[in-house]
Amino acid sequence: MEEETLTQGQRCYDEGLSQTNESVIPDLFDFLRIDVELEPVGSDREENACSKNVMRKQRNWERRVEVKKSKRKEEKQRKRLSRNKDINGPQLSKRVMKAITKERLEDARGAGLVLCVDFSMTDHMSHKEMSHLAGQIRRLYGSNKKALRPFHIFLTELKEDSLLYKECVRMNDGFLNYLMDVTDESWFHLFPTEDVIYLTPDANEALERVDEDKVYILGGLVDESIQKKISYKRAKELGVHTVRLPIDEYMVKKSNPKNFHSKILAINQVFEVLLAFCETKDWTTALASGIPPGKGYVVTSLMSSEVGQ
Ligand SMILES: C[S@@+](CC[C@H](N)C(=O)[O-])C[C@H]1O[C@@H](n2cnc3c(N)ncnc32)[C@H](O)[C@@H]1O
Repeated sequence: MEEETLTQGQRCYDEGLSQTNESVIPDLFDFLRIDVELEPVGSDREENACSKNVMRKQRNWERRVEVKKSKRKEEKQRKRLSRNKDINGPQLSKRVMKAITKERLEDARGAGLVLCVDFSMTDHMSHKEMSHLAGQIRRLYGSNKKALRPFHIFLTELKEDSLLYKECVRMNDGFLNYLMDVTDESWFHLFPTEDVIYLTPDANEALERVDEDKVYILGGLVDESIQKKISYKRAKELGVHTVRLPIDEYMVKKSNPKNFHSKILAINQVFEVLLAFCETKDWTTALASGIPPGKGYVVTSLMSSEVGQ
């Protein structure tokens, strides 16, 4: 009886297989296995019924596969549409976007906000830090390109025969065509000192606003070896106004497993905060969007809403 059942089951299975594609055999086998052993032994009529049963299930299975496929296709299309949807108006081609970006960057060079990265302190850095700094310059330039109101950017005291310059060319595609001013001169000779505001994490005073008639300077440094107050000392030596980002005023420490908290940001992160502030005129938004959670700080309003939950 057991043997007969198996033979009968096997026959049903074979009939099903003869009408299907070999590539679906494993799935089909899985699908059919439950019923195969339960099919009754019997006459031709029963065999016929069994074969119909298998065919019906196969059709159902194929239909389900088709439905899944078309759902996946619909989902893909939906995602593509939502990606392309431009909330500010019609979608622009890459070429048009490139032309608009170029025009904005050129306009910024004529008038508007000015940011300068001071590379006079690169003696303090290792080769690895130079490579990181080159990467940060690429990110900073990338953010400026995306901004509605970009800054006019200067890279000062960046000499063509320096390791940093070579790293910039090696690591950053198109660096030589970046729309910014690269010079081996010091910002000190390019701008009147009374217009200069040096951003440094060690300043006492917090930055309140970003003005068009000022020149904002960032220290071209990376802090893997955490050398303290270098940019602060440099600014003080040259007698210019120093400020820090208003982290103490708008953020609080957030507990984390490593108990790590740092207000020292990479130059591209400081720049992100400045761009976000220029766009929103709101420090809470700017700091929340520009300072990565890994720094161990959170904007005060978010902290109180978390506590209230
Ligand atoms: C990685 S930091 C270098 C920190 C370094 N210890 C120093 O002496 O400035 C690179 C530059 O980003 C800017 N920066 C970083 N964090 C800042 C903060 N909290 N406020 C203002 N500027 C900041 C400064 O211009 C700084 O020189």
